[in-house]
Amino acid sequence: LQILVLHGPNLNLLGIRERSVYGDLSLDQINAALADQMAGLHGLIECQQHNSEGAIVEAIHSALGNKDGILINAGAYTHTSVAIRDALSGVNLPVVEVHLSNIYQRESFRHHSYIAPIAIGQISGFGLDSYLLGLKALIRHLRKTQ
Ligand code: DQA
Repeated sequence: LQILVLHGPNLNLLGIRERSVYGDLSLDQINAALADQMAGLHGLIECQQHNSEGAIVEAIHSALGNKDGILINAGAYTHTSVAIRDALSGVNLPVVEVHLSNIYQRESFRHHSYIAPIAIGQISGFGLDSYLLGLKALIRHLRKTQ
């Protein structure tokens, strides 16, 4: 199984940015933890981070025919981007949405996700564990359906 892990804007600043909200881990440490977990699950992950919306849309397009599923933390684009949602719908790959913070505990503009309605599910509020749980859930879903 091949999974595309997509990190959205500002997530390159993890470990520096708003540590009380997002924790101390860097993006590289998160990616390393995902790769470790994936090795045990006999699959491959490719991790990408993009600050621009168009680059995320293009990364989603390039998953078509190459990946079995997408794990995405779209960052602030979660709450704004019809284009990212349409790209995810367009490639028709199973999607799991994750967030480090609990978006429902925060400002009301973070309570709406354009991605959630087209995702299998969403995991929010568990820091690194949101990613690890999300990857595990995506793999289990793919094993059941493929
Ligand atoms: C985030 C939550 C978003 O609201 C925010 O814009 C982010 C990170 C999270 O992982 O908690 O950049 O997606």
